Amino acid sequence: MSVLVIGSCNVDLSVSVSMLPKKGETLLGQKMSYSFGGKGANQAVACGKLGADVTFLSCVGNDEHGQEIRSYLESVNVRCDRMKVSHSQPTGTAIITVDNEGQNTIVVIAGANSECDIDYLKENEDAFQSCDYVLLQMEIPLDAIEYAIACASKYNKKVVLNPAPALSNFNELLYPKIDYLTPNETELETMAQSNHTMDDNIQSLLNRGVKNILVTVGESGAYFVNKQVKQLVETTKVVAIDTVGAGDCFNGAFVTALSQGMSDLEAIRFANKAAAIAVTRQGAQESIPTREEMNN
Ligand code: RIB
Repeated sequence: MSVLVIGSCNVDLSVSVSMLPKKGETLLGQKMSYSFGGKGANQAVACGKLGADVTFLSCVGNDEHGQEIRSYLESVNVRCDRMKVSHSQPTGTAIITVDNEGQNTIVVIAGANSECDIDYLKENEDAFQSCDYVLLQMEIPLDAIEYAIACASKYNKKVVLNPAPALSNFNELLYPKIDYLTPNETELETMAQSNHTMDDNIQSLLNRGVKNILVTVGESGAYFVNKQVKQLVETTKVVAIDTVGAGDCFNGAFVTALSQGMSDLEAIRFANKAAAIAVTRQGAQESIPTREEMNN
């Protein structure tokens, strides 16, 4: 079965700091590096490296970064023939700080990602028809995300939405069209529009029609909840050095596993394992393991 990933491409400018800056504070950074990122591209790379049949819909700028990103994606078996090139916006950028414990802050400047819009998705409607799973995040325009969910559902495709960064003005009517919603705890609160307990927030989203909810809880693993099941799927404890892109690795791995016939729980264990490897390495895309590494 095949996967259609729709989402952002960024150039990540990462700075290592001893601790994350507070409001108004100036810090001396230790090391600076450029790499490829963007939640959409990271998830597509995870699918490609882990062996999924994956197509990517995304928009980059008409610049060197855009070309390099596409070549890298193709080198890890992501189909990019439908990718768009903007002639008015540069490739998206993310400014990232990573502290000594591997925790991070991220600010994204959308650039060309703002042109991953409804018109572009309409031009690629046949890609929705020919896939089995549609994997989305929230770094492209909200109306395009909502259109993609409605379109995927019209063709009876499985929809996986990683609500990152989460938005509270998401169209509630679309919840019943989401097969898997995969927030972290903060994103769960934003999507549920409440700061009640995690259980209450999950329940509220299930009541609004989401079929399955997977809440990633860092080094504890992930909660899997639907109307019948509520289970914590634990992960291996590792020493994290960089958590950037770990959630993306989890999502790409999860959908890859589903597309290869694993059950929900098997797919979550597979995704936990991939993310546990990713956090022990630097960067977003380069930290994602290959299928061979997963089998070792
Ligand atoms: O999830 C990590 C990603 O968030 C980074 O690669 C950055 O580009 C932002 O999109």
